[in-house]
Amino acid sequence: MEIGNRPRRLRMDGRTRDLVRETRIGKSSLIYPIFVEEGKGIRTEIAAMPGQKRYSPDTLAYGLEEAAKAGITNIMFFGIPEHKDECGSQAYADHGIVQQALRIAKKEFPDLYYIGDVCMCEYTSNGHCGMIKGDSVDNDKTLPLLAKTALSQVMAGADMIAPSDMMDGRVLAIRRELDAAGYIDTPIMSYAAKYASAFYGPFREAAGSGNFKGNRKTYQMDYHNRKEAMKEVWLDLEEGADIVMVKPALSYLDIIRDISDAVKVPTAAYSVSGEYTMIKMAAQTGMIDEKAMIAETAVSIFRAGADILITYFAKEIAEMIGEGRIG
Ligand code: PBG
Repeated sequence: MEIGNRPRRLRMDGRTRDLVRETRIGKSSLIYPIFVEEGKGIRTEIAAMPGQKRYSPDTLAYGLEEAAKAGITNIMFFGIPEHKDECGSQAYADHGIVQQALRIAKKEFPDLYYIGDVCMCEYTSNGHCGMIKGDSVDNDKTLPLLAKTALSQVMAGADMIAPSDMMDGRVLAIRRELDAAGYIDTPIMSYAAKYASAFYGPFREAAGSGNFKGNRKTYQMDYHNRKEAMKEVWLDLEEGADIVMVKPALSYLDIIRDISDAVKVPTAAYSVSGEYTMIKMAAQTGMIDEKAMIAETAVSIFRAGADILITYFAKEIAEMIGEGRIG
């Protein structure tokens, strides 16, 4: 039998395989999340996320330097305040933890790009992403607080704002607040399709919201739903979002594909704490090759259509891109 088409021809050696790669990724498409905690001298490993640390403002430079050395250019901050209260006042305090971190980071590493996660859950005593009324989160009462938080982060130096609360109307509320203060050019990356997910488990320990009871199903999306993700995306774009995000990533590759096919703005994907911890813990058993798993999962998220990847593995991925192993 004569075989004309032999797909194996393009797989015969490394150079040919590199030449025909369909998915190209670069270090500048990665965002590395860093946890900053109020206090002094903190450089504590997060038990639920081996290899990730919490830094206090005075040690933050170590974390930033490591990231910069690995070739990371984009950083996202999550804050852990000393005091939490009902209205999450440390989220929008001028000297809140993220605001402090931003000022220091901007001064010491001015070439990095800083994204502020905007949410109330690390700052409220009940651990919810907004103000509580009865046994539910009060959407409209939360909006001005989110807008204030965004503005105070931008004033402290944030280059971009990323609201992760899932309140209706937050993108518009934030856009208005920023514009009114003259920050018309500061982009908003909205966590548009954010699902209520068990994959956030380790983050809750990392962010100190361990005492959070209940769930976020009245505001985050139901993972049975696909069309609804498009609805969330259209609404956020109408409200002025510049980039839309899907979160988590690995169990939501179909959603990433839907969105990146449908919209004309960049699509971001957040590979969350549970995705990180699954690989880390499995690697500790010696049953999987950690680096190979990191490479394959990261590429799969880009292959699904993501333009930007937020991941705790950013440094490892950047290293592998540098080696030409992926990308
Ligand atoms: C805050 C927020 C969460 C994450 C990012 N921003 C937690 C949550 O919604 O419960 C999760 C990130 C991760 O798991 O890595 N709203």
